[in-house]
Amino acid sequence: MKQKILRATKILKKGGLIGFPTETVYGLGADALNNKAVLKIFSLKKRPKFNPLICHFNNIKQIKKNAILSKKALKIAKEFWPGPLTLILKKRHNTKISNLVSAGLNTIACRIPSNLIALKILNEFNGIIAAPSANLSSKLSSTTAKHVKKNFGKKIYLIDGGNTKYGIESTIIDLSNKTPSILRPGIIHKKDIIKILPNIIYKKKNKENIKSPGQLKKHYSPNIPIRINIKKVKNNEVLLNFGKNNLKSKIKELNLSKKSNLEEAAKNLFNYLHILDNKKYDAIAVAPIKNKGIGIAINDKLKRASFNE
Ligand code: TXA
Ligand code: MG
Repeated sequence: MKQKILRATKILKKGGLIGFPTETVYGLGADALNNKAVLKIFSLKKRPKFNPLICHFNNIKQIKKNAILSKKALKIAKEFWPGPLTLILKKRHNTKISNLVSAGLNTIACRIPSNLIALKILNEFNGIIAAPSANLSSKLSSTTAKHVKKNFGKKIYLIDGGNTKYGIESTIIDLSNKTPSILRPGIIHKKDIIKILPNIIYKKKNKENIKSPGQLKKHYSPNIPIRINIKKVKNNEVLLNFGKNNLKSKIKELNLSKKSNLEEAAKNLFNYLHILDNKKYDAIAVAPIKNKGIGIAINDKLKRASFNE
């Protein structure tokens, strides 16, 4: 692994792209200070340039040099970093992070991942890695190296770190406004955050945050249609089940968690959607999933995945 980490670091320094595991999903990384490298991310992912990227750091000190961390922000950072949390912070004027990363906004999305391979790369690179999820824009996220390969083949240097621990993207909290808000639900949920930020709210949809495709209605989509909260599976539909019930598919079924465990369901979500996403089938029918805790993040993703323009 040491050799692979050295190779990945070398590629980053030369302005190339890497695929690497984090505890949430795989990331597609580039040197955040290098405009050309960052542009490659947008073009390879076919990502609209107005959709900003997350910066990955290896310590809080490094973040402080580039963004403003209030006392509150520091408290939340110390509670959840390293881990599946992203904070939107005001950018420092003297930061060298490419403007393309934050799509011209005066904020940056910061995260310290807990995955050991990710941390080792960050350590060795001794810089900042801009990395969105390693999938084509608006498509299913990658939770295994195989998924990343399916998306980008040999165009990037990929480090295989096995299945990701949590399976869904980091929770995003916007701390750049007076009232802190959750922009994207994730593994760390409101119940945990509210202890430190009692006035935290879920960001309401408005024209302004539609600018961020993570918040756009259509996202995380398989190639075949997906129906959620189903009561009955139709002919030629495959079933993505949850818990114990009477639902049945005549073709194929995968159960996110037979024990109705939401952590287990999150971990399996994208992998099972990748498996069921086959043009042989008419659609993926998804059983109802309880809308509590991590279930909120799972349902948020399924809703966007099932959205039809
Ligand atoms: O778990 C994760 O967060 C993964 C791993 C690889 O770290 N990354 C990830 O990145 O999910 P991505 O690009 O797929 O999602 C980033 C989201 C997007 O919805 C983007 O619009 C939002 O973060 N974002 C980034 N910078 C922002 C900013 N300055 N203000 C508001 N939203 C921002
Ligand atoms: Mg993404």
